[in-house]
Amino acid sequence: MSQRETWATRAGFILAAVGSAVGLGNIWQFPFKTSEYGGATFLVVYLVAAVGIGLPAMLAEFVIGRKSNLNAIGAFEKLNHRNWKWVGILGVGTGFWILSYYSVVGGWVLRYIGGSVTGAYFADPAAYFGQVSAGLDALALHALFMIFVVAIVASGVEDGIEKATKLMVPSIVVILGALAVWVFTLPGAAPGYSYFLSPDLSQLSLSVSFDPLPSFSGPLTEIIPFAVSQAFFSLSLGMGAMITYASYVGEDQSLFGDSVTVVVLNSAVGILAGLVVIPLLFVQGIEPGSGGAGALFVSLATAFAELPAGRVVGAVFFAVVLIAALSSAISLLEVVVSYAVDNYGARRPQVAAALGGLIFLLGIPSAWDTAWLTWFDNLAYQLLLPLSVLGVLLFIGWVYGRPAVDELLNGSSLGGGVGATWLWLVRTVVVLGVLLTLALGVQTLFF
Ligand code: PFF
Ligand code: NA
Repeated sequence: MSQRETWATRAGFILAAVGSAVGLGNIWQFPFKTSEYGGATFLVVYLVAAVGIGLPAMLAEFVIGRKSNLNAIGAFEKLNHRNWKWVGILGVGTGFWILSYYSVVGGWVLRYIGGSVTGAYFADPAAYFGQVSAGLDALALHALFMIFVVAIVASGVEDGIEKATKLMVPSIVVILGALAVWVFTLPGAAPGYSYFLSPDLSQLSLSVSFDPLPSFSGPLTEIIPFAVSQAFFSLSLGMGAMITYASYVGEDQSLFGDSVTVVVLNSAVGILAGLVVIPLLFVQGIEPGSGGAGALFVSLATAFAELPAGRVVGAVFFAVVLIAALSSAISLLEVVVSYAVDNYGARRPQVAAALGGLIFLLGIPSAWDTAWLTWFDNLAYQLLLPLSVLGVLLFIGWVYGRPAVDELLNGSSLGGGVGATWLWLVRTVVVLGVLLTLALGVQTLFF
């Protein structure tokens, strides 16, 4: 078996982790979920979830990866708990599932780069979205996006990924920032800011009745599962990605500091995207929540159609989104590929192509009809992601336990108290939070 690699520099790991985290989840999902599930109220619950549940869960994945130095499935075996291998398998499966429709949206982004250059969507942005987001067009673009992902993973990513991510985050921030300033100058944007930024505290209510089974009601029954799962999706948790990336990290690096960086940058990019998209929806008189998966594409396309240099700005914007989407998608395919390479000694290019092909097949329904895409997405949010993260938390909190704290503290200057507090939180509050999310998700999904 070949020598296990490590990141060359501390920045290498942070950049790769940020590259995996920052993606369509921030620029596409986050604004449209926020506008669908109550605006600022969703934002508050999301931020609480990202810090209170996402951060401790990310530390758990980092610890599993660095301690084992193995892929997401092998890691659970190596830490001597073969019975918990299912958590790794569930994580890899969840990544597989998500990548299938992530790639479809990546295909739309590809199309919008071309559409910006030619001005194809300028006349009727809504009709354009309807036409390119379903049927044979979408299928071909889904295939094209998947081919890019396979090509990069097949040829080894070190250089490509590191260079792309170094450029990606700064250019996303600059371009989104410039767009946010421009949106701010538009008449009619004001209600968008209050929708996005001033929470309606009366929405923060949840009640439970027993009859005899528990059943929940109140606005939070919908907000919690989507906000918590949005945090998982956005931070690339519950999919083996962070376990795999952390398996290349040295013992001299502070996992805690790195995870804080990822959470902060990821949330910042999401909020910046929200500051662009949500006021734009209001400017164009689109009801929040009615835009669905197409909200971002339609509203931005409309904006670019009106901008003086709309073709250039549009093309640059969607190109940046494409890089962000690719660096996230690559991390998902890499998880599965590294497992197959480690365990079956298979050759990387062949494995990447075969698995990429399977993921393409799984994405066909989502490409064909956005109703399927929504269904795939809902299943991931309400069931797969919380279940998978729950497995990680239970494993670290209740099975692996104390040694996890020692691993967390390696390479960091934190006192033992912080580590012990983290473990205690993982065992109790955080697990309860995810259990509640799961209960609400299952209720929404099946009842
Ligand atoms: N975190 C990515 C995003 O927000 O777009 C999506 C993603 C990437 C999910 C990688 C899962 C993953 F393993
Ligand atoms: Na993200």
